[in-house]
Parts: sequence; C-alpha cells; structure tokens
Amino acid sequence: MKEIKTLITENEIQAKIKELAKVINKEYSKEELYLVCVLKGSVMFMVDLAKQLTVPVKMEFIRLSSYGSGTTYSGKVNAVDIALPNLSGKNVVIIEDIIDTGHTAKFLVDFMKQNFKMKSFKFCSLLDKKIKREVDIDADYYCFEVDDKFLVGYGLDMDGKYRNLPYIGYIE
Ligand code: IMP
Ligand code: MG
Repeated sequence: MKEIKTLITENEIQAKIKELAKVINKEYSKEELYLVCVLKGSVMFMVDLAKQLTVPVKMEFIRLSSYGSGTTYSGKVNAVDIALPNLSGKNVVIIEDIIDTGHTAKFLVDFMKQNFKMKSFKFCSLLDKKIKREVDIDADYYCFEVDDKFLVGYGLDMDGKYRNLPYIGYIE
C-alpha cells in the first residue's frame, strides 16, 4: 500500500455534505427527489448525502465506461448499464464523485435530457477540478474545488483500490 497524503479529512467531507443537504432540503421542500448515482465512485457520497436529506428520496444507479486503468483517460464515454426507471416528470439530481475534463458530465447531461422530460434536473458533484475542464459544463452543486492531482479515497479509486478510505487523499 502506497502512502496517501490526506487532502480532505473525513470530518471536512461530512460537514460539507451536511451543508449541501440543507440547501437541497430547502430547495425541494416536500417534493420527491431522485438521486442518480454514477457508479462506482459516487456511492459513498450518495449514501452520506441521502442520510442527511429530509425530502422523500429515491435512489437510482447508472454505470458508465470512461477511464481506462490507472490515471489515464481512455477518451470515450458510454452508458454501459442503464437500469433507470422512467424519470420523466421527476425531480432528478445526478450524483458524481468528481468533474475533471467534463466529458463525463456532459455525456450524462445530454443522455438524461435526451431520454427523459424531467420536471427538474441538476448536477451535483463532490469534487470539481475546474482547472482541468475541456468542456463547457458546471455543477449546480459541488462540495470542494480541487487542484490538478490524481485523488483517491471516499469512492475515488486508482485501479479499483482506495475507494473505501473515509477521506480524500493523493499519492505522492
Ligand atoms: P471527466 O470525464 O474527465 O470529467 O472525468 C470524470 C471521471 O473520471 C470521474 O467520474 C472519475 O471517475 C474519474 N476521475 C477524474 N479525476 C479523478 C481523480 O483524480 N481520481 C479518481 N478518478 C478520477
Ligand atoms: Mg465517476
């Protein structure tokens, strides 16, 4: 196991998630909300966020293929596993772990809008690497802006490892 330097602590993550949940609870008040978790990296974030929500929540999942192995980008994005119900007429929030170049987020936004006439649609990302953006896209909600470092932990992986860390770090 390589040495991981902590960038964002477990307490910092949980505190931000509580703040974000307050905003979302206010915004949707008593309306039903569908959280669409982008597997696998966003699982931790969605679960912790959902626990802080007081609006009626439903949880759905979508799996994409984008990154190859390690830290290199493979280019194309595809929805490889779509088990979504009909989300037309629903309030939907996509839950992502990180927006990096923005290609994945752009794909998701287009995909959701093409397939469903949603009542409302927002994009929520735990992390935002704004400095790396190649596509003009912004999150409606995000918790932390981060620098151009390859991050692991709290859902983020390197070759499938480190997702279970309760904090976010980087390998030096
Ligand atoms: P984008 O299409 O370049 O915005 O990349 C988005 C996806 O790449 C995210 O959903 C992550 O799965 C992955 N990714 C981007 N940056 C990192 C990182 O620093 N650590 C781990 N995964 C990352
Ligand atoms: Mg991801």
